[in-house]
Amino acid sequence: MNKQEIINILSDETKNDWLFKEANRVRKENVGDKVHLRGLIEFSNICKRQCKYCGLRSENKEIERYRILKDEILLYTKNAIDMGYRTIVLQSGEDNFYDTDKMLEIIREIKKHDIALTLSIGEKTYDEFKAFKKAGADRYLLRIETTDKRLYEEMHPNASYENRKQCLYNLKSLGFETGTGCLVGLPNQTIESLADDILFFKELDADMIGIGPFIPHKQTPLKDCAKGDFWLALKVMAITRLCLPDINIPATTAMETLNPNGRIIALQSGANVVMPNVTSKEYRAKYEIYPGKICINENPEQCRGCIEGKIRAIGRTISKEKGFRKG
Ligand code: 5AD
Ligand code: FES
Repeated sequence: MNKQEIINILSDETKNDWLFKEANRVRKENVGDKVHLRGLIEFSNICKRQCKYCGLRSENKEIERYRILKDEILLYTKNAIDMGYRTIVLQSGEDNFYDTDKMLEIIREIKKHDIALTLSIGEKTYDEFKAFKKAGADRYLLRIETTDKRLYEEMHPNASYENRKQCLYNLKSLGFETGTGCLVGLPNQTIESLADDILFFKELDADMIGIGPFIPHKQTPLKDCAKGDFWLALKVMAITRLCLPDINIPATTAMETLNPNGRIIALQSGANVVMPNVTSKEYRAKYEIYPGKICINENPEQCRGCIEGKIRAIGRTISKEKGFRKG
């Protein structure tokens, strides 16, 4: 699909049903009916950055900050493995407390288990990425957020669009399964730039793509902006499946925040991954990237049971594999 074709589909509401069915068919043909579960550990909500949309931004003084230390991370990991998870995702704000040495220790400990490990801890130097890889990390998530350079710089004070892109190419060249993605519905974001986002995923040959609607957070500069559209986010995701047929695409939590059946709708429109939280209840509400986050009153066992029930109800099953990109 070229840019104009993507724009046409994104702006034509009459093609939605066709698009979602087609993305579902391409998903089934290329990655099958199994759904990969990734156990998510949000281990620190401390962040040095000021992304204008994000509730974890350093200027938000109202949020109660926390850090989960190594031993507790390992406890959640062990518990997740006992529940059948084959991938752990470590996510945090950009928190300097976890320097390279601390991260390497955590990575090595987790990788003593026979599971895949994904990191989602922000922009790092080439050498840091290289050390993480050598210690055993398999995958890395770093959303580009938007490929519209002007909008990127508007949304991310003191950040460089070029550096973010470079990080992604560095991750790829180091052999990480590399995940990226975008927000849908940022103020002044255009359909054209969403088409560019999808073309960028293709150009990078991303292995995983996470797409979610923007949800305004009260303690951010974007508090009065309109929220993103669930269906538009779903369309961007579905077109991404058509353009990159064999990659892993999560049904994102932000989608479920805007639509009570969002993750299941996504799983039937091109997605093949879900990332349930595997930490204890006490941290969930505090990792408030955006308001209305799901599962803040559940524990890991409840989420595991809940999501399995929903997946089975649509005739799909949970994968027992680590779930690397097939390709
Ligand atoms: N609404 C929706 N998604 C958000 N993210 C950050 N803030 C918001 C928000 N207000 C997403 C970003 C980030 C991911 C971890 O969460 O895309 O990469
Ligand atoms: Fe957490 Fe459904 S996945 S309650």
